[in-house]
Amino acid sequence: MAGPIILETIAALRAWRSERRAAGKRIGLVPTMGALHAGHLSLVTGVKQAADEAVVSIFVNPTQFAPTEDFSKYPRTFDRDVKLLAEVGAEAVFAPHVQDMYPSGFATTVSLDGPAKVGLEDAFRPTHFAGVATVVTKLLLQALPDVAIFGEKDFQQLAVIRRFVRDLDIPSEILGGTTIRETDGLALSSRNVYLSPEERAVAPTIYRVLQEAAELVRKRQPLDRIEIEAAQALAAAGFAVDYVAIRDALSLAPPYAAADPKRLRLLVAAKLGKTRLIDNIAAV
Ligand code: PAJ
Repeated sequence: MAGPIILETIAALRAWRSERRAAGKRIGLVPTMGALHAGHLSLVTGVKQAADEAVVSIFVNPTQFAPTEDFSKYPRTFDRDVKLLAEVGAEAVFAPHVQDMYPSGFATTVSLDGPAKVGLEDAFRPTHFAGVATVVTKLLLQALPDVAIFGEKDFQQLAVIRRFVRDLDIPSEILGGTTIRETDGLALSSRNVYLSPEERAVAPTIYRVLQEAAELVRKRQPLDRIEIEAAQALAAAGFAVDYVAIRDALSLAPPYAAADPKRLRLLVAAKLGKTRLIDNIAAV
């Protein structure tokens, strides 16, 4: 099986993209930070339903990590990633170098409001989305894909990206991909490798608590009480809870008390030991 072509420079990406475009192909972009798992691979399969050829970017983006976060120890498994991408039929891998993405003198960030300022991830990682938006804008302008896909696993990230792509008139369609889970419900994440065996056994509690909370939302229980009780259940299982929030699925703003459950999304961020996990589900 021929593997994907590896593109290491922005010029090589642009040349590949122009050539494939000239051959009449629709291009799909899958941005990632590598350490690929079945969740990432499902995005490749998903984007190929809307495009002829998939380019997967692998770039651990320093600007979206705070100084206290895990940039230097973030798992890097490039050769394995390329093998997995060959198996799902990705045509190209874009793996730029940090100094090419952020040459000396780099001084620009995308400034965000709306879904980026709703008191969820932004409250706990205040510089995170500016880094994400800046690198995703760069990747979209470098690859100029017809379509790009992002996972619902990072639900606020997806909402932020949809917003700035629309606001900045970036001519790529944005798709969302459903969250892929382990059989016990734990959402796949490159960070799950940080969990000790004991923490790994407790981690699926997040999904169970989310499902129980969604059931109460469907029964029209008061939303603030559901949030509090879900946070208590997680704390009792050993999590340090950043938030449990029930939000409008489009704006991510707090909903009206009588909001239709079909419009609601339940979101959690919580730490187990040193590992921060996030997850979310629809209420209906
Ligand atoms: P990363 O964490 O590598 O995730 C890459 C993409 O995979 C994101 O769109 C994410 O939502 C999606 N993803 C992660 N886990 C998933 C799962 N279990 N099921 C389905 N999709 C999943 O998110 C980033 O990288 C970065 O912020 C990035 C967008 C690449 C910008 O640097």
